[in-house]
Amino acid sequence: MLKSHNCGDLNKTHIGQTVTLAGWVHRRRDHGGLIFIDLRDRAGIAQVVFNPESAPEAHKLGGDMRNEFVVKVVGEVAARPKGTENANLSTGEIEVVAGEAEILNPSRTPPFYINEDVEVDESLRLKYRYLDLRRPRMRDNLILRHRVIKFMRDFLDERGFLEIETPILIKSTPEGARDYLVPSRLYPGKFYALPQSPQQLKQLLMVAGVEKYFQIARCFRDEDQRADRQPEFTQLDLEMSFVEEKDVLDLTEELFTSLVSTVTPQKRFLTPFPRLCYDEVMEKYGTDKPDLRFGLEMGDISDLVADSAFTIFRSAVRDGGKVKGIAAPGCACYTRRQLEELTEVARSQGAKGLVTIALAGDEKGEGSIECLTGEMVRSAAAKYLTPEDMRQIAKRLGAKMGDLLLLVAGPTKVVNASLSALRLDMGRRLELMDPNLLAFAFIVDFPLLEWSETANRWDPSHHPFTAPKDADISLLDTDPGKVRASCYDLVCNGSELSSGSIRIHERELQEKVFRLLNYTPEETRARFGHMLEAFEYGAPPHGGIAPGIDRLVMLLAGESTIREVIPFPKTQSAMDLMTNAPSEVPDEAMRDLHIAVCGEEPQEALKSHHNP
Ligand code: AMO
Repeated sequence: MLKSHNCGDLNKTHIGQTVTLAGWVHRRRDHGGLIFIDLRDRAGIAQVVFNPESAPEAHKLGGDMRNEFVVKVVGEVAARPKGTENANLSTGEIEVVAGEAEILNPSRTPPFYINEDVEVDESLRLKYRYLDLRRPRMRDNLILRHRVIKFMRDFLDERGFLEIETPILIKSTPEGARDYLVPSRLYPGKFYALPQSPQQLKQLLMVAGVEKYFQIARCFRDEDQRADRQPEFTQLDLEMSFVEEKDVLDLTEELFTSLVSTVTPQKRFLTPFPRLCYDEVMEKYGTDKPDLRFGLEMGDISDLVADSAFTIFRSAVRDGGKVKGIAAPGCACYTRRQLEELTEVARSQGAKGLVTIALAGDEKGEGSIECLTGEMVRSAAAKYLTPEDMRQIAKRLGAKMGDLLLLVAGPTKVVNASLSALRLDMGRRLELMDPNLLAFAFIVDFPLLEWSETANRWDPSHHPFTAPKDADISLLDTDPGKVRASCYDLVCNGSELSSGSIRIHERELQEKVFRLLNYTPEETRARFGHMLEAFEYGAPPHGGIAPGIDRLVMLLAGESTIREVIPFPKTQSAMDLMTNAPSEVPDEAMRDLHIAVCGEEPQEALKSHHNP
């Protein structure tokens, strides 16, 4: 080794020892006589002092050193002179007095500061990711990710799970996104698909008798990017035989609680994780991934306003939609500008507008909801709603005097999406999102199918291998939209962290679901024949779950995008700015693959059956 110690590991116990350090020049201060260098390696920073009297040659080299030079220093660890200690640094009580030095490799001036946690344009960071990863915050994220994955491996190993790799070149497996396809050189016109998840393979491992499987699995999905979506991402994919829904949820809860307590003990969470029905969370929070760190629950006021004089409300209910609202505590004083901002939030989710009722109170700002009069509110809707209407609405939403009611009318989907966005917006404005609290919850009892208006067919709300609830199987023939799935999500602070389900393990039922999803028998045979066949050879009952590792580490690290916890991520537009991928390939490679580029239009044939 070119070094005897890590810079960041040195402390008072090393005083008097001669050490050899190697690392990067983090910062350099030339005091005329003495030169100070903060030398950085992965473990941290140590201060090195170059003294012109005691080591003139080393001092001369110290003078040549610049930020990010790679250097080696041999010197003695000494206590820092009184008054110069740095309490913010673990090595702040000592310094290394350089006896010898060597510049191992100089560096150009980096395109951004590595020694300061300043905002840097993300595309520059991604182009020079190897420099970005030198920054302490990014190094800490890499370390955290390593600890999370190591914890998962140890936890599952102790419980008898086998880690098994599954292939990357496979046949398309639908998870609701477009596939990344790999052309076959040996079979012109044929393609492998990169797995959207190892879903089918882990089920086949259950048929193979593995019983408990896991994998730190890379998944590939060609879909629109968002802050918490990347074209390739990592799941802790796991599957178990002979289990019911409760077994998978219990194991997942134990994994997450012990992981957080060990890896990020500064984070708080509540146990047991609530297990909430899909219908209930849609009603209260308007989304299936609610942020449960705060209340601000929605109330349905459709019945109260169905016959009101306010046409917007009346016609929404008449057309089969809803009128729902939330009470923002203490916000009756919001200005016109703030109300306009809130209206924009509602509009961004498709709402035609936002109705606000400020429960301002009497001239002293006082009064009770029971005695509410028209003079005590500020609202454009006040002329259409009676004081009794408003009293009822305020009561339904649990409001107090001084609150601001936010009401949205329209088709249920739009109302839920708009109020859900408003709820999050108010949560931020009122600082209700405690960054150290992880509000986990399982969402259960999802519908098995969702009607797609655009494609005019049923789509699986999870994936086509999810089992219907036993009690609902008969509804598959009569009322498929009512069938509940043995399917569950783990959500946390507004993020979907994991999804899983109990699977279908019988051929007949699986074929029935494929039929409902509008697959022709030929399509079913061509795409899933291997699964159906496997189910004829004693497939055990099985189920599993797949926590998204990037999203989990993002939450634990307190980052707002998964790009911050992925070493080499793609941009929002799926580009790798460091290597410039995707890129053209030589004509010869195209010929080998029997590929010709035929235009700008996306090719219909490349889209998977269940595109959103
Ligand atoms: P699902 O598609 O819900 O389920 O994915 C499981 C979890 O993976 C994460 N995730 C993503 N993370 C980053 N970027 C993406 N593009 C992305 N897509 C999904 C989420 C999500 O909860 N085979 C099933 C699991 C199962 O049934 O066992 C599946 O893949 O955290």
